[in-house]
Amino acid sequence: MTLSLTSTFDYVACQHGAEPTLKQVFCEPNGTYRLAYSQKGLVTLKSNFAIPCWSKVLPTHPLVRSRGHILKKCEGEVAETLVQSIVEEYRGLDWTDLHVWQRDIAQPGWHGFEPGRSALAHYVAEAFEKRLREVEDERAARVNQIASLDSRVLEIIIDDPNRWWIATRLVQNVEDGWVGGVYVPHEPADMISRAYLKIAEAISWSQMPIRPGDQVVEIGSSPGGACQHLIDLGAKVTGVDPAEMDPRIADHPSFEHWRARSLQVKRKAFAPFRFLICDANVAPNYTLDTIESIVAYPTTSVEGLIMTIKLSSWEQSDHIAEHLERVRGWGFTQVAARQLAHNRREYCIAAKR
Ligand SMILES: C[S@@+](CC[C@H](N)C(=O)[O-])C[C@H]1O[C@@H](n2cnc3c(N)ncnc32)[C@H](O)[C@@H]1O
Repeated sequence: MTLSLTSTFDYVACQHGAEPTLKQVFCEPNGTYRLAYSQKGLVTLKSNFAIPCWSKVLPTHPLVRSRGHILKKCEGEVAETLVQSIVEEYRGLDWTDLHVWQRDIAQPGWHGFEPGRSALAHYVAEAFEKRLREVEDERAARVNQIASLDSRVLEIIIDDPNRWWIATRLVQNVEDGWVGGVYVPHEPADMISRAYLKIAEAISWSQMPIRPGDQVVEIGSSPGGACQHLIDLGAKVTGVDPAEMDPRIADHPSFEHWRARSLQVKRKAFAPFRFLICDANVAPNYTLDTIESIVAYPTTSVEGLIMTIKLSSWEQSDHIAEHLERVRGWGFTQVAARQLAHNRREYCIAAKR
């Protein structure tokens, strides 16, 4: 028998600290939602009407990392017992993928914490896989795998170890297919900085077509985590930064360092680059002015941009729409914003021609 379910609650997951902004955005007076249960990194929203669990209507905002329709809260002391009852109850639902993840316990980068690497979620995912094999459900192979477009994902969100939420999501874009909205890149043992993770996630999310041999420039490149990833992709990389580069990057044959602030570099020097990355720790308008002066220059032929925009306060996220409008004004047709799982108090703009 195929189950057909509806939901009157949605959830959004986000970085710690983004919750008040999202509550304000989604729970306007007379809006679609009213605030329900919330915790750091997880906000649930009560909808005015019941919608089918695979409905495409889902909360959307650049600070939303993951979203879905909530079916139920489950509480219990023993993971295996919960797993068994959830499999029993939802086997009849036509989900294609099952994702298990844990609400963030801290801000990204805090004492080595990175989203999407929870040992508990890993343990519970294994228990689901085992149980699904026991009941000969072929979907055991689809536990915590990246889901493709139009997949129907059943989510188990570990809010606290003894309190889980069951949710559903129809995958509508790349990031919807990631477990908990987190892209977990391969992490090299000699990773130079967290920026390696950030650029790997940004490229995956934006599907920026950086290929071996492409010329890429990064403004704000020191110490070199992002350059390390770009070099791993086979790109020829130039870093613009007054600070020193890590010697492993500085001495790499695919790397050149222009040791200067971006404004000290002649605009025509940017002519050879196909992709421009900016990860400078400066105010949003400084970043946007700098990039505008480069892309508006007649000899520049940049096809893709990835920019980190710092948020000195969460209220600054009110300006995201204006920032995107400005980037569109430079002639980029595909422009998007997302607070990446590996971003701290900042967000990412990606733009393609
Ligand atoms: C967050 S760090 C960049 C991390 C780097 N992307 C990595 O992969 O390791 C910010 C950098 O921006 C640089 N920066 C700040 N203002 C700059 C400017 N006007 N031009 C170039 N670099 C700048 C700083 O020197 C600093 O090294």
